[in-house]
Amino acid sequence: MSIEAIQQALKQVKYPGFSRDIVSFGLIRGLDFKDGKASIQLAITTSDPKVPSQIKGDIEQTVGGVGGVAEVDVEVAVSQPKAQAAGPAGSPMSGQTPIKGVKRAIAVASGKGGVGKSTFAVNLACALGQRLGRKGLNNAVGIMDCDIYGPSVPLMIGLRGQPEIEDNNIIPLENFGIKVMSMGFLVGDDSPVVWRGPMIMKTIQQFAQNVNWGDLEILVVDLPPGTGDAHLSLVQTIPLDGAVIVTTPQPASVNVTRKGARMFDKVNVPLLGVAENMSYYRDPATGDHVALFGEGGGRQAAEDLETAFLGQVPLNPAIRQGGDSGIPVVISDPDGVEARVFFEIADKILESLG
Ligand SMILES: Nc1ncnc2c1ncn2[C@@H]1O[C@H](COP(=O)(O)OP(=O)(O)O)[C@@H](O)[C@H]1O
Ligand SMILES: [Mg+2]
Repeated sequence: MSIEAIQQALKQVKYPGFSRDIVSFGLIRGLDFKDGKASIQLAITTSDPKVPSQIKGDIEQTVGGVGGVAEVDVEVAVSQPKAQAAGPAGSPMSGQTPIKGVKRAIAVASGKGGVGKSTFAVNLACALGQRLGRKGLNNAVGIMDCDIYGPSVPLMIGLRGQPEIEDNNIIPLENFGIKVMSMGFLVGDDSPVVWRGPMIMKTIQQFAQNVNWGDLEILVVDLPPGTGDAHLSLVQTIPLDGAVIVTTPQPASVNVTRKGARMFDKVNVPLLGVAENMSYYRDPATGDHVALFGEGGGRQAAEDLETAFLGQVPLNPAIRQGGDSGIPVVISDPDGVEARVFFEIADKILESLG
């Protein structure tokens, strides 16, 4: 009976900084109970030396309090997130496996919804695609739309329909040289997606592993907005090489942006920078920049997070129209002010990815 009691006790131990417990995070590798001695093995992926010792201490205390347990032996195997991404399949923390054929995966994230994250992700992918195309690397950029609550990438890039399945792999759809995989292809337009955390995880995991991307230089991952536990799990599922945070200029959004960014810190994914969207409106009559949504939020967030400020995308009806019509502004008007910002940001990202 004590094994069950120990298992229950382990479920009380939270991952430091999170409301979620170490069992549901999948960290327990082994559990044994003999002659009053509980032996517990864990494997975690972190670069923070405080995390393993804190978990160890918490387990010793919690399991030590279980009736019949006289001794607690905890072994924690720690691995570094980066090495894991390049290493053998299956990371201890999450079953993180490198995505086949994908050289670099970068997340586009935001603290809250409606900041234009998907619009940004689509235009960024197109800008990256154009830049790599110049170097002779064609069809080398993909987008994975992980926003299963509101998958908007297909519409924004002019794709609809069902992807084909080949040898149990989903073949991404393609437009403007960008390969696209979205939950939007798999769930119908009107089927409500009300899945809960673990289900999301599983879906995304399959999603990440069972797509035949071919050979991609860069995969842009459009994450759902938010900073909850489900997001942390998600971020752990996909081996990411970096994250771009999208925000709006309101100073009030700095806090939620910071919160969104810290999630990447926890899983040791480097921030590539903060991009500000809807930064200003250029008055067509006067050419003046009007700060409709306030000023300074992006720069402030970048400063606070000690990361690069990547640029300011203006608020422009052409950007919204581009999204609605399925032709991103980077494609329809590559010489316009908006496209130029996206190209500049793409160049900065290519540079920081090496
Ligand atoms: N810079 C911009 N200028 C004008 N409209 C924008 C801009 N960025 C986003 N939008 C519009 O705002 C709405 C929300 O954008 P979306 O990319 O779906 O946000 P999110 O993915 O953060 O929820 C969309 O209708 C989109 O076309
Ligand atoms: Mg979106």
